[in-house]
Amino acid sequence: MEVLGINTDIVRVGDDLVEALKKGMAKAGLAFQDGDILVVSESTVATAEGRVVALDDVTPSDLALALAAKFCKDPREMELILCESDEIIGGIPGVVLTMNKGFLYPNAGIDNSNAPPGHVVLFPADAQKSASEIRRRMAEGKEIGIIIGDSRTHPLRLGCVGVALACAGLEPVEDARGQKDLFGRELKITRKAVADNLVSAAQIIMGEGDEGIPAVIIRGAPIPIREVRGEIPTIAPQECMYIGALSSGPCHYTGGYDELIDQAKKAFANAYAPYSGFKVGAALLAKSGKIYMASNMENASSGADICAERAALARALAEGEREFLAIAVVGDAPEPISPCGICRQSLIEFGGDIQVIMANLRGEAAMASLADLLPRAFTGRCLGRPEGRSN
Ligand code: THU
Repeated sequence: MEVLGINTDIVRVGDDLVEALKKGMAKAGLAFQDGDILVVSESTVATAEGRVVALDDVTPSDLALALAAKFCKDPREMELILCESDEIIGGIPGVVLTMNKGFLYPNAGIDNSNAPPGHVVLFPADAQKSASEIRRRMAEGKEIGIIIGDSRTHPLRLGCVGVALACAGLEPVEDARGQKDLFGRELKITRKAVADNLVSAAQIIMGEGDEGIPAVIIRGAPIPIREVRGEIPTIAPQECMYIGALSSGPCHYTGGYDELIDQAKKAFANAYAPYSGFKVGAALLAKSGKIYMASNMENASSGADICAERAALARALAEGEREFLAIAVVGDAPEPISPCGICRQSLIEFGGDIQVIMANLRGEAAMASLADLLPRAFTGRCLGRPEGRSN
């Protein structure tokens, strides 16, 4: 496999990228052969398409001002990020993670590298369409594939790898399921990100800076050129190892605590809740294997009310228990009920890894760790007490 760089003049707003590439190829004595794959950098495509914005022309909204302060961004850039994305997932100083049409991007793909001073480059408006158009105009009778390439970091890894923003004329992901491993076992989940891998190969030559090589031809790759649109496939966030594993909030009840839920239902029946009429039952499973049940107790002076969860915790502590695995809480509500803030705080004293099973009388249940329900909790550790548990 060969990776052949195409030098071009600097591509500016309004330039005809295809003409610039053809000129660069002619200068280097390059002509397409059947099976070639042209990888073009995303920022070059976007620049030629005029997706360059002068920051002075942008007026930030109140939301952009607030988010810019939170994530240490230029408020005008933050405004553009809001316009260019469906959702802001979160961020760290300098970078916000955004979602757009099921794809995750840093800063909605807005970049100030390779942009004139005071300007930023947005993503191409429709990278898929651009890829098809470049393919149509570049091919001149040859069977070629096109990939518009970008770069990304992997979680917790330093350094960027190539990622395909769009492609045309090849399948971006090859399904390797059903093939055999070295020991004859069938591969179950392996799919090869062919287009991403090709962009990584291309970037070894293209670089990210002032190399003046906005495109490369990959020759001899064992990738079939086909008449396909080559849309980049995505998976749902809950199927994604990173997003699925790291996202907080109530999750599906995966089973294993049916007995604990039954015990909480028993306690529910004995709740003393004449004022609110809202009965709650809880069952707390200690590491010892014992279960401590309790229900809410109300009072004519409502400040004296005690929730079911804290009542169960008090019972367990009085028996000498200090380590807990799970707590089930049941109420008669349209959705599984979740522990109130005070109960979350009381319980997290004994560990963020306690599983909380939230249920209702309709047989619905949800489950989350206590740490997910109370992120960044205030614990004994914050007081500098070594006996305080970390979460
Ligand atoms: N309650 C609980 O027992 N646990 C909770 O997590 C939420 C609220 C009780 C307190 C009160 O007796 C009634 O529900 C209505 O707030």
